[in-house]
Amino acid sequence: MQLPRYIAHRGLSKHAPENTLAAIQAAADAGCEWVELDVQCLGDGTAVIWHDESVDRCSDGQGTLIDMTRDQIRHLDVGSWFSPDFRGERMALLDEALSLISALELGVNLELKINPGHDPVELANTAVHRARQVLPLDRLLVSSFDMNALESARAQDEKLALGLLYEAIPRRWASDAQRLRPVSVHADWTQLDQERLIEIQSAELALLCYTVNDPERFASWWDHGVSGVITDDPALFDSRYQRRTRGDGSRKPR
Ligand code: G3P
Ligand code: MG
Repeated sequence: MQLPRYIAHRGLSKHAPENTLAAIQAAADAGCEWVELDVQCLGDGTAVIWHDESVDRCSDGQGTLIDMTRDQIRHLDVGSWFSPDFRGERMALLDEALSLISALELGVNLELKINPGHDPVELANTAVHRARQVLPLDRLLVSSFDMNALESARAQDEKLALGLLYEAIPRRWASDAQRLRPVSVHADWTQLDQERLIEIQSAELALLCYTVNDPERFASWWDHGVSGVITDDPALFDSRYQRRTRGDGSRKPR
């Protein structure tokens, strides 16, 4: 699988409310080829694109996802907190996000986000099943901090591309890799360690770093074998990804 050099974090979250259909569309409008999105389940089992444990930070409501149903979240405005331009944006269901990604011919790094009280196996089973119905293998990368979630994902599909997600890469990464057979390791770039990077390169796995919004400070890491970054704004790295006007309907040539 050809992993991209730039992945738009939570969609193009510099320019649109994170993890929304608008952020996916904005990424495509800017010419991005891949987006990273967080997926988790509501209390009624509906899979949605959302990062936090609660809706408090990024909506006009309050409450934890695990206590909410699909009907309840559909009433939330998840755009106004970001800008009045996005007023009325609704929380994206996983199925809606996958349809849009498919229509826009994007790739997705789908992060299985296991917040407290959530079941990693339920999420992995639901999300991987849905994603595989819609997207081809070469445009889907499933990652998680939760190794149990990745284990369930692997059990579902032997060919699925997996990414081991860590903050600082732990010594045990190699045993995780042996068990889960990932294509990539994802790490917090502020906690990179050269020794681990050499090990990952020797194992011929890709290393993706998050969330990189300071190209100058990051620059030297490219020489240490980093293959890509997850960033709120790929245009920080390459001006060809300049944002276009929202919803102008056009795509930049690849
Ligand atoms: O997948 C990389 C990155 O998204 C992990 O951190 O908290 O932004 O989901 P977070
Ligand atoms: Mg994430």
